[in-house]
This record gives sequence, structure tokens and C-alpha cells, in this order.
Amino acid sequence: MNTRYGINWDKAKALYHTECTDFTSRMPRSRELSSRAAGHLLFGVPLHWMNDWSTPFSLYVAAAQGARFKDVDGHDYVDFCLGDTGAMFGHSPKPVAEAIARQAQCGYTAMLPNEDGVWVAQELTRRFGLPYWQFALSASDANRFAIRWARAITDRSKVLIFNGCYHGTVDDVFVDLVDGKPQTRDSLLGQVYDITQHTRSVEFNDLAALEAALQDGEVACLLAEPAMTNIGMVLPQPGFWQAAQALCKRYGTLLLIDETHTISSGPGGYTRAHGLEPDLFVVGKPVAGGVPCAVYGFSAETACRAEDAKRKAPPGHSGIGTTLTANLLAMAAMRANLAEVMTDSAYQYMFGLAEKLATGLRRVIEQQQLPWCVTQIGARTEFQFTPTPPQNGSEAGKILDSELEHFMHLFLLNRGLLITPFHNMILVCPDTTAADVDRLVMAFADFVAAVK
Ligand SMILES: Cc1ncc(COP(=O)(O)O)c(C=O)c1O
Repeated sequence: MNTRYGINWDKAKALYHTECTDFTSRMPRSRELSSRAAGHLLFGVPLHWMNDWSTPFSLYVAAAQGARFKDVDGHDYVDFCLGDTGAMFGHSPKPVAEAIARQAQCGYTAMLPNEDGVWVAQELTRRFGLPYWQFALSASDANRFAIRWARAITDRSKVLIFNGCYHGTVDDVFVDLVDGKPQTRDSLLGQVYDITQHTRSVEFNDLAALEAALQDGEVACLLAEPAMTNIGMVLPQPGFWQAAQALCKRYGTLLLIDETHTISSGPGGYTRAHGLEPDLFVVGKPVAGGVPCAVYGFSAETACRAEDAKRKAPPGHSGIGTTLTANLLAMAAMRANLAEVMTDSAYQYMFGLAEKLATGLRRVIEQQQLPWCVTQIGARTEFQFTPTPPQNGSEAGKILDSELEHFMHLFLLNRGLLITPFHNMILVCPDTTAADVDRLVMAFADFVAAVK
């Protein structure tokens, strides 16, 4: 028998084939739109990643609301992908929709501040602890700008990252460790200069390697998620961050924490939940309820140094910010989202559901004696094809299997349950119900039973 990850691979492949046939026969309108798109959209989709789903052609959305969406062929889904975190607090949350409708009558963009920006900055300080804030249109941009500030402040060129990280389309951090040596990620398109000249990479949870990378005093910032989420989840070992922070301080390297995914940890992110003290801080995706926007914060000392660096530079383009950054529409959406949607009570509810989900998945894994595990960061849950959770990016990378993910994801999708196309991340939102979670656990159990 051809067994992989504890399942019968031939059975799983045959099942995927049946599921593809089923999907194709039930989705005539999605199929028609896909063939129309093929003539006008590069790769047949508005963004080439949209081909990374498990479906034989694109599934087209008709409308999304709360934890649910409907496709153009009239099928209903519970959405556990939630726009890969962009809609982590539900699709079109009412307070955000109302704020957008109000602001739509009062201007979208003016390149001038309004009161919302002041309110939002005060609220970000209350939540995350950093006293000064700036805005961007995406987390990718926020990371890019924060790195630029870090280099300007420290007058150092190098950036340090953890192997296997993803922080958006920031060229500087597309570096992998290959046989212990930094190498530009093979998949990066159109790159013409050697990124490894200015980027170092070490394994997560490896304090000795971290110190070795910092000790020559050339690293401007360590850019990191507090727990890795983009190569599958990798949690920090106890004490890792306390020691890592101390090393950054000792060698004059700014700590830039990217909470774009780990914002699932709580209203103040992993930073507040675990007492981290970053110098720079980024969060994007759900911060404005799904409207394009991201924020980045500065500690008091870092803000002083940033203002100094700008004042000392000749006047002119700084390379930071874009015309629509901090536009009025995004500010209105963010204010409503922070005030009424991303609340403590929403988090408490989501934590309860995620716990229920993780327990249910673990029960199935145990009953079926699968060599799999479940990892959780607040409202974010993931099952991984390994008996013990990975400790770093290399270990996590080894157990990614997009073929098996596709087998499972399409099986779930055909039963009205959507999870992220990348690895096995599952999100719950304030509109997800306990019954939705039960349905997902049951479908997961059905898949496993079908391919054991
Ligand atoms: C941790 C992290 N940072 C930044 C980004 C980039 O976000 P965006 O694609 O919205 O720019 C992502 C995207 O997945 C992410 O996971």
C-alpha cells in the first residue's frame, strides 16, 4: 500500500479525482466565467495566486457576509479562510459597512488628515503600547517602510529574518537558508540585485544563531512574526522572545514585529498577550475590517530617532508612503473596526470556538491514529502532517505537501467548507457558530475515514 502521512495515497488520489468531477458538474457558471477570464486575465485570474486553490477552475464568489459566502452557482459556504486574515472579523462587518457608506458621501482621499486618524492612533497606542503611528495600504508596504526607517535610524544596512518567513512582497526578505547559507528565494520574479548582500537569515528558536548574526553590529532590524505562520505554524519555545529581545538590545538592532497574522492572539496581538517590547510594529490585513490598510508603530525612542533621521536628510522624496496612504475611506473603516468589531468580547468568543475546533481535530487525529498534530495561536488553528509541532522554518517546510492539502481542501469545499489554500490554516470569526465548527470537524473526520 502506498502510504504517506498515515493515509492511503492511492485512495486519496482517486477521491480527489471524484471530487474534481463533482465540482466541475456543479459549477457551470464558475466554469463559464473562468473560460471568459482566460482570454483577458493573465493566467485567467486577477492575481496569479488565485490559481493556487484546489479547484479544477476558479470558484467565483457572488456575495460574502459574516462567516459565509455564496458562489455564482448558488451554493453556500462557511468561510474558514476569511480572505487569509483580511476578513478575520467577518465579511462586511456592519459597523465598517456603515462607516464606509457615511464616508462615501464625504470624500475618499484628500492627502490631508481628518479626526479619524487621531482617534485611530490613540486607540492603536492603547491596544499595542507603542506611542507613535504611521499608515500604509498593505502590510507589505508597512514592512517595507518600517525597514527603511530602521535603516535610516541605525545607519546600518542589514536586515535579519527567520528562515521560512513571509512578510509580503518585501524584496529584502525573500531569502532562504539552503545548506545553512542564505540564498535568494527561487520563486522571486524579476530580481536583479543580490539580496543576500544585505539580508541575513537564521532558524527560528535558535538563539545561538541569532546572536552570531547580530554580534558584528551591522544589523538594522530583526523583522519577525512572533510565531511563524506562513510556512505552517511554528511557535516560539518558552523564553525565546525574552532572550531574543535582549540580544537585539545588546547589539543595537531594532526589533520589528509583524503581527499581520498573529493578531489572532488577542486585541493587542501577541505583543501585548506575551509582553513583547518591539521598537517597530506592523499589522495589516484585518485592521480596517478588510478595506486595504495597514499600520506601523514606533516606540518613543525609535520615533525620536526617526524624526531626527528625516530632519537631517535633505528635503525631497523619502521613499516612504504612497499617495492614497491614510486615505479618508480607510481611516473611517479602521476607526469603526477598532471601535466596534475587533473588540475584547469578539476575541473571547473566537478563542472559545478555536479551542473547540482544535479539540475536535485532535480527537479525530487521535481516534484515527494519524501522525498529525494541531497548532493554535488564539483564533488561528492549523493541522500539520507531523506528529510533533515543527520548531523552525526548515522543519515546517519539510512537512508541507500541497498535493495532500488539495485532496483535503477540495473535499471540504465540495461540502460547503472553505479553508485557506496555503497549508491548513483555519480561522474563525465573530459570526462563525459552534455548529459551523462541528460541521468542519465532521467533514475532516469523513475525509480521514475515506482515505485511511
Ligand atoms: C506576516 C505577514 N506579513 C505581511 C503580509 C503581507 O500582507 P499583504 O499581502 O496584505 O501586503 C502577510 C501576508 O500574508 C503576512 O502573512
